[in-house]
Amino acid sequence: MKILVIGSGGREHAICRRLSHDSPVPELHAAPGNPGIAQLATCHDVAVSDLDGQVRLARELAVDLVVVGPEAPLVAGAADRLREAGFAVFGPSAAAARLEGSKSWAKEIMQAAGVPTAASVTVTDPAELEAGLDRVNPLGDVPYVTKADGLAAGKGVVVTAERAEALAHAASVLAAGGTVVLEEYLDGPEVSLFCVCDGEHVVPLAPAQDFKRALDGDEGPNTGGMGAYSPLPWVPEGLVEEVMETVARPTVAELAARDIPFVGILYCGLALTSRGVRVVEFNARFGDPETQVVLERLVSPLGPLLLAAARGELVEEPLAWSEDAVVNVVIAAEGYPASARTGDPITGIAEAEARGAHVIHAGTALRDGELVSAGGRVLSVVGRGADLAAARQTALAAAELIGLEGSHHRTDIAVRGAQGLPSLNPTANIEDDAEESADAQSSGTGADGQVRA
Ligand code: AMP
Ligand code: GLY
Repeated sequence: MKILVIGSGGREHAICRRLSHDSPVPELHAAPGNPGIAQLATCHDVAVSDLDGQVRLARELAVDLVVVGPEAPLVAGAADRLREAGFAVFGPSAAAARLEGSKSWAKEIMQAAGVPTAASVTVTDPAELEAGLDRVNPLGDVPYVTKADGLAAGKGVVVTAERAEALAHAASVLAAGGTVVLEEYLDGPEVSLFCVCDGEHVVPLAPAQDFKRALDGDEGPNTGGMGAYSPLPWVPEGLVEEVMETVARPTVAELAARDIPFVGILYCGLALTSRGVRVVEFNARFGDPETQVVLERLVSPLGPLLLAAARGELVEEPLAWSEDAVVNVVIAAEGYPASARTGDPITGIAEAEARGAHVIHAGTALRDGELVSAGGRVLSVVGRGADLAAARQTALAAAELIGLEGSHHRTDIAVRGAQGLPSLNPTANIEDDAEESADAQSSGTGADGQVRA
């Protein structure tokens, strides 16, 4: 099987790594890929935004399957273009990717499908903001959640205890011509569940947890994700089944009824709140950095699974998973997420891998044959072990061996998980932050160029 993977990040490196473990090993191509992917696949100099170039390349290579990694080309219609050209594509159409591209539309779909999510109000008129906030947070006793509707560079989500800050964020989105979604605050730990969909059938992958905030103890600004782990020993038994029945299947069915088949990964971002499971957000693709841990645990072959989904022939049977635990520690560049210093030499990858971890490239480039940083999230250092404590130790010890001037990484990924405890609600310490930094909870375009929120 000949597979073309579109993208250049850690997610795409992890997808290629897992595909390269299939038997028989598929012939792998990537556009544009990165220096890590280049060790597993033939990389082609076609940008993620170059949809014409992707179709041309798929034709030239006569691939059997195209896997579109990032959200931006999906929302722009990459999968539609490739499908029109006759290729089997794993990734939703632009119409289906609106689940990620428009938060208000995602809310409409969830409401129609009866999917549990935060109550919300969509606002386009500044005069309606105050009343909208009162509706979603009537007592004003929990943080305010304001979201830009679209893939909004730098203006994504603000979670703040300060009403004035929520109003200011919402007003600035409206002033820029955008739409705002005001949401009820969700407490409780977050879980990412990726579901493979073929437009009709759904197969869940293993749940994982992402660590969105920049610093240990869930301090600092939101990022694209600073680490992840799987399995989650603390999730209630039956969670995956519950999410399948109350979230994934109804959503896929609602879209199918609207003639918008969802083919690809339905990423269910969930909060396990005191009142039950709620959807925080949908994404229309594999998550990064969770993919690095989820696919590492997948025993069933990946290529045939994605091809079956692309062809509408997904079989709803459970996949095989390793009992091993996997922990991913992201090495981020100095300044990330506000900005990212790039162009610095990276050392220590061989030493980290000799320590038993493997290193996924996210934001790297070759300059005169030397590996240098080229994005906000630079590497994922992934440890695998018999349990989370062992996997964590491997990942962290290996992360310490990476040399990149000014870089930072979290040291608390999966600490609580290793004790069988859920992570805390990542916005639990919001009140402290509101005092420290007016901008502390902004998410948006990460310096790795990936739109968040
Ligand atoms: P999103 O980009 O929608 O995933 O939001 C980024 C982060 O903001 C999420 O991972 C949550 O930590 C936080 N967040 C988003 N929506 C809510 C909500 N309704 N209540 C509490 N926290 C939220
Ligand atoms: N890990 C969060 C995301 O991929 O959006």
